[in-house]
Amino acid sequence: MELLDAIKNRRSIRKYKDTQIPRKALEKIIEAGTYASNAGGGQRSMIVGVHNADLAKKLGKLNMAGFDRSRLIGSYVSKEQPSVIDDPTIKNGFYGAPSVCVVFAQRDFMFGIPDAFCCAETMLIEAFDLGISSCIISRAEDTFRSEEGESLLKEWGVPDNYIARCFVILGYCDGIYPQPKPRKAHRSIIIE
Ligand SMILES: Cc1cc2nc3c(=O)[nH]c(=O)nc-3n(C[C@H](O)[C@H](O)[C@H](O)COP(=O)(O)O)c2cc1C
Repeated sequence: MELLDAIKNRRSIRKYKDTQIPRKALEKIIEAGTYASNAGGGQRSMIVGVHNADLAKKLGKLNMAGFDRSRLIGSYVSKEQPSVIDDPTIKNGFYGAPSVCVVFAQRDFMFGIPDAFCCAETMLIEAFDLGISSCIISRAEDTFRSEEGESLLKEWGVPDNYIARCFVILGYCDGIYPQPKPRKAHRSIIIE
């Protein structure tokens, strides 16, 4: 597959089959994340891959625990793949995806957030190349801000100076994979 075709055709998927992805594929997706561009070449981000549908579901519910929809009134994300903003009946912020990667950054590092999202985007492209659907999910900090969330971090051995910055959910698209959306015009210029 041409890389630009992969970049253009990848979509955020929010309807998943129950089928788990192969562990080997998860390992490759995580490996791709570790090769993402990173501030100062510091390779500070950490990725925890959750290859367990029950635990992914539990985290997806924690992700929604403090979700404040009122700030988002008037926003709309997708008709084909409705998000938690579009459909208030969705109670799992991970949409039933059977695997999820949690991307962590050093708590006080000024480029921790961009580093984490660079990892996430790189993982999405690798997942697409492997035929696996994905979506970036935010509100990672809030997801672990409970006794239950904090005890998971301890159990996983995440160092205290690390904070979750985003998620990449993974699985197989249930239904028709959406086409790329047309791009808004006038978003770039080239100066010779
Ligand atoms: C920084 C960032 C945060 C996002 N957070 C969420 C999220 O919490 N939940 C969600 O369903 N999608 C989330 N997305 C996915 C976007 O909604 C999606 O990329 C956008 O609607 C464009 O759709 P496409 O990826 O299919 O082109 C996020 C994407 C980015 C880049």
